[in-house]
Amino acid sequence: MLPTIEWQDGAVVMIDQRKLPAEEAYVRCRTPREVARAIRSMVIRGAPAIGVAAAMGLALGVRRSRAKGSAQLAAEFYKLCELMAATRPTAVNLFWAIEQMKERFAAAVRAGRSPAEIAETLVAAAQQIHDDDVASCKALGAHGAEVVPPAGRVLTHCNAGALATGGYGTALGVVRAAVERGKQVAVFADETRPFFQGARLTAWELLRDGIETTVITDSMAGPLLRDGRIDLVVVGADRVAANGDVANKIGTYTVAVLAREHDVPFYVAAPVSTIDLSTATGADIPIEERSEREVTHVGSKRTAPAGARVWNPAFDVTPGGLIAGIITEQGICRPPFGESLRDACERAGGSAER
Ligand code: MRU
Repeated sequence: MLPTIEWQDGAVVMIDQRKLPAEEAYVRCRTPREVARAIRSMVIRGAPAIGVAAAMGLALGVRRSRAKGSAQLAAEFYKLCELMAATRPTAVNLFWAIEQMKERFAAAVRAGRSPAEIAETLVAAAQQIHDDDVASCKALGAHGAEVVPPAGRVLTHCNAGALATGGYGTALGVVRAAVERGKQVAVFADETRPFFQGARLTAWELLRDGIETTVITDSMAGPLLRDGRIDLVVVGADRVAANGDVANKIGTYTVAVLAREHDVPFYVAAPVSTIDLSTATGADIPIEERSEREVTHVGSKRTAPAGARVWNPAFDVTPGGLIAGIITEQGICRPPFGESLRDACERAGGSAER
Protein backbone atom coordinates (compact mmCIF):
# COMPACT_ATOMS: atom_id res chain seq x y z
CA MET A 1 0.00 0.00 0.00
CA LEU A 2 1.13 3.55 -0.67
CA PRO A 3 3.17 4.90 2.25
CA THR A 4 1.31 8.20 2.69
CA ILE A 5 2.28 8.58 6.35
CA GLU A 6 4.01 6.34 8.86
CA TRP A 7 5.22 6.40 12.45
CA GLN A 8 8.86 5.31 12.24
CA ASP A 9 11.23 5.12 15.22
CA GLY A 10 9.90 8.19 16.99
CA ALA A 11 9.44 10.26 13.82
CA VAL A 12 6.53 10.91 11.47
CA VAL A 13 7.48 10.14 7.88
CA MET A 14 5.35 11.39 4.98
CA ILE A 15 5.61 11.23 1.23
CA ASP A 16 6.11 14.82 0.01
CA GLN A 17 2.95 15.47 -2.03
CA ARG A 18 4.27 18.81 -3.30
CA LYS A 19 6.89 16.96 -5.31
CA LEU A 20 4.80 14.21 -6.87
CA PRO A 21 4.80 12.92 -9.56
CA ALA A 22 8.24 14.23 -10.53
CA GLU A 23 9.95 13.00 -7.41
CA GLU A 24 9.12 10.38 -4.75
CA ALA A 25 10.67 12.08 -1.73
CA TYR A 26 9.91 11.64 1.96
CA VAL A 27 9.84 14.20 4.76
CA ARG A 28 10.82 13.06 8.26
CA CYS A 29 9.21 15.19 11.01
CA ARG A 30 10.89 14.93 14.38
CA THR A 31 8.88 17.60 16.22
CA PRO A 32 5.19 18.56 16.37
CA ARG A 33 6.13 21.93 14.90
CA GLU A 34 7.55 20.18 11.84
CA VAL A 35 4.33 18.18 11.49
CA ALA A 36 2.23 21.37 11.72
CA ARG A 37 4.42 22.99 9.05
CA ALA A 38 4.04 19.92 6.82
CA ILE A 39 0.23 20.14 7.07
CA ARG A 40 0.20 23.90 6.39
CA SER A 41 2.54 23.66 3.41
CA MET A 42 0.67 20.65 1.90
CA VAL A 43 3.48 18.12 2.22
CA ILE A 44 0.51 16.10 3.44
CA ARG A 45 -3.06 17.04 2.55
CA GLY A 46 -6.52 15.51 2.27
CA ALA A 47 -8.95 15.55 5.18
CA PRO A 48 -8.36 12.13 6.79
CA ALA A 49 -4.58 12.26 6.16
CA ILE A 50 -4.16 15.56 7.98
CA GLY A 51 -6.15 14.14 10.90
CA VAL A 52 -3.72 11.22 11.10
CA ALA A 53 -0.74 13.60 10.81
CA ALA A 54 -2.02 15.85 13.61
CA ALA A 55 -2.60 12.84 15.88
CA MET A 56 0.93 11.57 15.24
CA GLY A 57 2.31 15.09 15.76
CA LEU A 58 0.65 15.26 19.18
CA ALA A 59 2.05 11.85 20.14
CA LEU A 60 5.47 13.06 19.02
CA GLY A 61 5.17 16.17 21.21
CA VAL A 62 4.26 14.23 24.36
CA ARG A 63 6.98 11.67 23.67
CA ARG A 64 9.63 14.40 23.40
CA SER A 65 8.41 16.34 26.44
CA ARG A 66 10.69 16.85 29.41
CA ALA A 67 7.73 17.77 31.67
CA LYS A 68 8.18 16.79 35.31
CA GLY A 69 4.59 15.92 36.12
CA SER A 70 1.18 15.53 34.49
CA ALA A 71 0.14 19.18 35.11
CA GLN A 72 3.09 20.52 33.14
CA LEU A 73 2.60 17.83 30.50
CA ALA A 74 -1.07 18.77 30.18
CA ALA A 75 -0.20 22.45 29.67
CA GLU A 76 2.25 21.51 26.90
CA PHE A 77 -0.16 19.03 25.31
CA TYR A 78 -3.10 21.45 25.08
CA LYS A 79 -0.81 24.09 23.54
CA LEU A 80 0.21 21.57 20.90
CA CYS A 81 -3.48 20.83 20.23
CA GLU A 82 -3.93 24.56 19.49
CA LEU A 83 -0.92 24.50 17.18
CA MET A 84 -2.38 21.58 15.19
CA ALA A 85 -5.88 23.09 15.11
CA ALA A 86 -4.49 26.30 13.58
CA THR A 87 -2.95 24.56 10.56
CA ARG A 88 -6.00 24.32 8.25
CA PRO A 89 -9.59 25.31 9.09
CA THR A 90 -11.92 23.40 6.75
CA ALA A 91 -11.29 19.64 7.07
CA VAL A 92 -13.16 18.52 10.18
CA ASN A 93 -11.14 15.29 10.41
CA LEU A 94 -8.30 17.42 11.78
CA PHE A 95 -10.44 18.60 14.72
CA TRP A 96 -11.99 15.16 15.13
CA ALA A 97 -8.52 13.57 15.46
CA ILE A 98 -7.40 16.24 17.96
CA GLU A 99 -10.53 15.53 20.04
CA GLN A 100 -9.79 11.80 19.99
CA MET A 101 -6.27 12.48 21.24
CA LYS A 102 -7.53 14.84 23.96
CA GLU A 103 -9.89 12.12 25.23
CA ARG A 104 -7.07 9.54 25.33
CA PHE A 105 -4.75 12.01 27.06
CA ALA A 106 -7.32 12.92 29.72
CA ALA A 107 -8.15 9.25 30.39
CA ALA A 108 -4.46 8.38 30.82
CA VAL A 109 -3.95 11.30 33.23
CA ARG A 110 -7.07 10.30 35.21
CA ALA A 111 -5.69 6.77 35.47
CA GLY A 112 -2.53 8.18 37.09
CA ARG A 113 -0.17 7.13 34.27
CA SER A 114 3.40 8.48 34.15
CA PRO A 115 4.45 10.87 31.34
CA ALA A 116 6.26 7.99 29.58
CA GLU A 117 3.16 5.79 29.78
CA ILE A 118 0.95 8.64 28.55
CA ALA A 119 3.28 9.08 25.58
CA GLU A 120 3.02 5.40 24.69
CA THR A 121 -0.79 5.57 24.99
CA LEU A 122 -0.85 8.49 22.55
CA VAL A 123 1.47 6.79 20.06
CA ALA A 124 -0.86 3.77 20.09
CA ALA A 125 -3.94 6.04 19.77
CA ALA A 126 -2.47 7.84 16.74
CA GLN A 127 -1.64 4.54 15.08
CA GLN A 128 -5.18 3.35 15.81
CA ILE A 129 -6.63 6.45 14.11
CA HIS A 130 -4.45 5.60 11.10
CA ASP A 131 -5.52 1.93 11.00
CA ASP A 132 -9.19 2.78 11.53
CA ASP A 133 -9.07 5.24 8.67
CA VAL A 134 -7.79 2.60 6.27
CA ALA A 135 -10.49 0.18 7.49
CA SER A 136 -13.19 2.87 6.99
CA CYS A 137 -11.95 3.58 3.46
CA LYS A 138 -12.14 -0.12 2.59
CA ALA A 139 -15.62 -0.47 4.09
CA LEU A 140 -16.96 2.63 2.35
CA GLY A 141 -15.30 1.48 -0.88
CA ALA A 142 -17.25 -1.79 -0.67
CA HIS A 143 -20.55 0.10 -0.28
CA GLY A 144 -19.65 2.53 -3.04
CA ALA A 145 -18.65 -0.20 -5.50
CA GLU A 146 -22.36 -1.14 -5.68
CA VAL A 147 -23.21 2.08 -7.54
CA VAL A 148 -20.43 1.71 -10.13
CA PRO A 149 -21.71 0.08 -13.34
CA PRO A 150 -19.87 -3.05 -14.67
CA ALA A 151 -18.08 -0.82 -17.19
CA GLY A 152 -18.08 2.49 -15.34
CA ARG A 153 -16.73 5.84 -16.42
CA VAL A 154 -16.13 7.84 -13.25
CA LEU A 155 -15.33 11.54 -13.03
CA THR A 156 -13.51 12.71 -9.90
CA HIS A 157 -12.15 16.02 -8.67
CA CYS A 158 -9.02 16.72 -6.59
CA ASN A 159 -7.39 13.72 -4.91
CA ALA A 160 -9.49 11.67 -2.51
CA GLY A 161 -7.21 8.69 -2.74
CA ALA A 162 -4.64 6.78 -0.73
CA LEU A 163 -2.56 9.96 -0.56
CA ALA A 164 -5.40 11.89 1.06
CA THR A 165 -6.17 9.26 3.71
CA GLY A 166 -4.41 6.70 5.88
CA GLY A 167 -4.46 4.58 2.71
CA TYR A 168 -6.83 3.19 0.00
CA GLY A 169 -8.82 6.41 -0.36
CA THR A 170 -12.45 7.51 -0.23
CA ALA A 171 -13.57 8.44 -3.77
CA LEU A 172 -10.65 6.41 -5.14
CA GLY A 173 -11.44 3.72 -2.56
CA VAL A 174 -14.79 3.33 -4.35
CA VAL A 175 -12.92 3.01 -7.65
CA ARG A 176 -10.43 0.51 -6.18
CA ALA A 177 -13.18 -1.59 -4.61
CA ALA A 178 -15.11 -1.67 -7.92
CA VAL A 179 -11.96 -2.80 -9.77
CA GLU A 180 -11.29 -5.47 -7.10
CA ARG A 181 -14.83 -6.78 -7.75
CA GLY A 182 -14.02 -7.25 -11.44
CA LYS A 183 -15.61 -4.06 -12.78
CA GLN A 184 -13.96 -2.21 -15.62
CA VAL A 185 -13.47 1.33 -14.41
CA ALA A 186 -12.13 4.24 -16.42
CA VAL A 187 -11.42 7.35 -14.34
CA PHE A 188 -11.51 10.92 -15.60
CA ALA A 189 -9.50 13.16 -13.27
CA ASP A 190 -10.04 16.93 -13.23
CA GLU A 191 -6.56 18.46 -13.02
CA THR A 192 -7.84 20.62 -10.09
CA ARG A 193 -6.40 24.10 -10.30
CA PRO A 194 -4.48 25.66 -8.65
CA PHE A 195 -2.63 22.89 -6.77
CA PHE A 196 -3.17 20.17 -9.42
CA GLN A 197 -4.06 17.40 -6.99
CA GLY A 198 -6.00 15.65 -9.79
CA ALA A 199 -3.32 15.78 -12.48
CA ARG A 200 -0.39 15.18 -10.15
CA LEU A 201 -1.70 12.90 -7.41
CA THR A 202 -4.88 11.13 -8.58
CA ALA A 203 -3.37 10.22 -11.94
CA TRP A 204 -0.12 9.12 -10.26
CA GLU A 205 -1.69 6.81 -7.72
CA LEU A 206 -4.28 5.30 -10.10
CA LEU A 207 -1.71 4.58 -12.80
CA ARG A 208 0.48 2.98 -10.16
CA ASP A 209 -2.43 0.57 -9.57
CA GLY A 210 -2.94 0.01 -13.30
CA ILE A 211 -6.32 1.82 -13.40
CA GLU A 212 -7.13 3.62 -16.64
CA THR A 213 -6.96 7.38 -16.06
CA THR A 214 -7.63 10.33 -18.33
CA VAL A 215 -6.61 13.77 -17.09
CA ILE A 216 -8.75 16.71 -18.18
CA THR A 217 -8.52 20.40 -17.32
CA ASP A 218 -11.31 21.51 -15.00
CA SER A 219 -13.04 23.36 -17.84
CA MET A 220 -13.42 20.14 -19.89
CA ALA A 221 -15.82 18.43 -17.48
CA GLY A 222 -18.86 20.20 -19.04
CA PRO A 223 -18.69 18.75 -22.55
CA LEU A 224 -17.66 15.35 -21.18
CA LEU A 225 -20.81 15.19 -19.02
CA ARG A 226 -23.03 16.64 -21.77
CA ASP A 227 -21.83 14.06 -24.30
CA GLY A 228 -22.82 11.11 -22.09
CA ARG A 229 -19.22 10.02 -21.50
CA ILE A 230 -19.50 9.84 -17.69
CA ASP A 231 -21.69 7.37 -15.73
CA LEU A 232 -21.16 8.84 -12.30
CA VAL A 233 -19.19 11.44 -10.38
CA VAL A 234 -17.51 10.50 -7.08
CA VAL A 235 -15.63 13.06 -4.98
CA GLY A 236 -14.31 13.23 -1.42
CA ALA A 237 -15.24 15.70 1.33
CA ASP A 238 -13.54 17.91 3.88
CA ARG A 239 -16.64 18.44 5.97
CA VAL A 240 -20.22 17.24 5.69
CA ALA A 241 -22.72 19.50 7.46
CA ALA A 242 -25.75 18.09 9.31
CA ASN A 243 -28.07 18.91 6.38
CA GLY A 244 -25.88 17.15 3.78
CA ASP A 245 -24.11 20.21 2.37
CA VAL A 246 -20.53 19.23 1.58
CA ALA A 247 -17.32 21.25 1.57
CA ASN A 248 -14.71 19.85 -0.80
CA LYS A 249 -11.95 21.13 -3.08
CA ILE A 250 -12.77 24.29 -5.00
CA GLY A 251 -14.43 23.32 -8.28
CA THR A 252 -16.51 20.50 -6.80
CA TYR A 253 -19.67 22.65 -6.79
CA THR A 254 -19.25 23.40 -10.50
CA VAL A 255 -19.01 19.68 -11.26
CA ALA A 256 -22.11 18.97 -9.14
CA VAL A 257 -24.16 21.59 -11.03
CA LEU A 258 -23.00 20.16 -14.37
CA ALA A 259 -23.82 16.62 -13.23
CA ARG A 260 -27.36 17.69 -12.25
CA GLU A 261 -27.85 19.47 -15.59
CA HIS A 262 -26.88 16.29 -17.46
CA ASP A 263 -28.61 13.75 -15.17
CA VAL A 264 -25.41 12.09 -14.01
CA PRO A 265 -25.46 10.88 -10.38
CA PHE A 266 -23.13 12.83 -8.12
CA TYR A 267 -21.79 10.94 -5.07
CA VAL A 268 -19.63 12.00 -2.14
CA ALA A 269 -17.44 9.40 -0.42
CA ALA A 270 -16.34 10.18 3.14
CA PRO A 271 -15.81 8.39 6.45
CA VAL A 272 -18.08 9.24 9.39
CA SER A 273 -15.19 11.26 10.87
CA THR A 274 -15.87 13.81 8.09
CA ILE A 275 -19.50 14.29 9.17
CA ASP A 276 -19.93 17.28 11.47
CA LEU A 277 -23.43 17.32 12.95
CA SER A 278 -22.53 20.38 15.00
CA THR A 279 -22.28 22.39 11.77
CA ALA A 280 -25.88 22.93 10.67
CA THR A 281 -25.39 23.89 7.01
CA GLY A 282 -22.67 24.51 4.47
CA ALA A 283 -22.89 28.26 5.17
CA ASP A 284 -21.39 27.57 8.62
CA ILE A 285 -18.29 25.77 7.29
CA PRO A 286 -15.12 27.89 7.48
CA ILE A 287 -13.49 28.05 4.05
CA GLU A 288 -9.71 28.32 3.94
CA GLU A 289 -8.23 31.00 1.69
CA ARG A 290 -4.71 30.24 0.54
CA SER A 291 -1.87 32.36 -0.80
CA GLU A 292 -2.18 34.43 -3.98
CA ARG A 293 0.94 32.79 -5.31
CA GLU A 294 -0.87 29.48 -5.87
CA VAL A 295 -2.99 31.29 -8.47
CA THR A 296 -0.47 33.69 -9.99
CA HIS A 297 2.22 31.03 -10.49
CA VAL A 298 2.46 27.51 -11.84
CA GLY A 299 5.39 26.06 -9.99
CA SER A 300 8.00 28.80 -9.98
CA LYS A 301 6.69 30.43 -13.17
CA ARG A 302 4.46 33.51 -12.96
CA THR A 303 1.39 33.16 -15.20
CA ALA A 304 -0.63 36.24 -14.10
CA PRO A 305 0.62 39.83 -14.25
CA ALA A 306 1.92 41.37 -11.03
CA GLY A 307 -0.75 43.72 -9.65
CA ALA A 308 -3.72 41.48 -10.56
CA ARG A 309 -5.98 40.84 -7.60
CA VAL A 310 -6.45 37.22 -6.57
CA TRP A 311 -9.20 35.25 -4.83
CA ASN A 312 -8.08 31.78 -3.79
CA PRO A 313 -10.62 29.86 -1.71
CA ALA A 314 -9.35 26.31 -1.28
CA PHE A 315 -12.84 24.78 -0.97
CA ASP A 316 -16.44 25.31 -2.00
CA VAL A 317 -19.75 24.00 -0.72
CA THR A 318 -22.01 21.71 -2.73
CA PRO A 319 -25.63 21.84 -1.51
CA GLY A 320 -26.99 18.49 -0.36
CA GLY A 321 -29.78 18.88 -2.95
CA LEU A 322 -27.28 18.14 -5.73
CA ILE A 323 -25.97 14.95 -4.07
CA ALA A 324 -27.38 11.48 -4.87
CA GLY A 325 -25.70 9.83 -1.89
CA ILE A 326 -22.96 10.18 0.70
CA ILE A 327 -20.99 6.93 0.80
CA THR A 328 -19.71 6.11 4.30
CA GLU A 329 -18.34 3.02 6.03
CA GLN A 330 -21.81 2.66 7.57
CA GLY A 331 -23.51 2.47 4.17
CA ILE A 332 -24.76 5.00 1.64
CA CYS A 333 -26.63 7.92 3.20
CA ARG A 334 -29.49 9.06 0.96
CA PRO A 335 -31.68 12.17 1.16
CA PRO A 336 -33.12 13.39 3.45
CA PHE A 337 -29.57 13.71 4.76
CA GLY A 338 -30.60 15.17 8.12
CA GLU A 339 -31.84 11.71 9.12
CA SER A 340 -29.48 9.43 7.22
CA LEU A 341 -26.29 11.21 8.40
CA ARG A 342 -27.45 11.14 12.02
CA ASP A 343 -28.22 7.40 11.70
CA ALA A 344 -24.75 6.73 10.24
CA CYS A 345 -23.08 8.61 13.11
CA GLU A 346 -25.15 6.75 15.67
CA ARG A 347 -24.29 3.39 14.12
CA ALA A 348 -20.61 4.39 14.17
CA GLY A 349 -20.76 4.90 17.92
CA GLY A 350 -22.47 8.15 18.72
CA SER A 351 -19.77 10.50 17.42
CA ALA A 352 -22.62 12.79 16.38
CA GLU A 353 -22.30 16.11 18.28
CA ARG A 354 -18.82 17.54 18.45
O1 MRU B 1 -6.46 21.13 -0.12
P1 MRU B 1 -6.48 19.64 -0.04
O2 MRU B 1 -5.65 18.97 -1.09
O3 MRU B 1 -6.19 19.13 1.35
O4 MRU B 1 -8.00 19.24 -0.37
C1 MRU B 1 -8.34 17.91 -0.38
C2 MRU B 1 -9.73 17.66 -0.79
O5 MRU B 1 -10.50 18.56 -1.05
C3 MRU B 1 -10.19 16.23 -0.79
O6 MRU B 1 -11.15 16.00 -1.77
C4 MRU B 1 -10.81 15.92 0.58
O7 MRU B 1 -9.94 16.27 1.61
C5 MRU B 1 -11.18 14.50 0.73
S1 MRU B 1 -9.79 13.47 0.96
C6 MRU B 1 -10.29 11.89 1.15
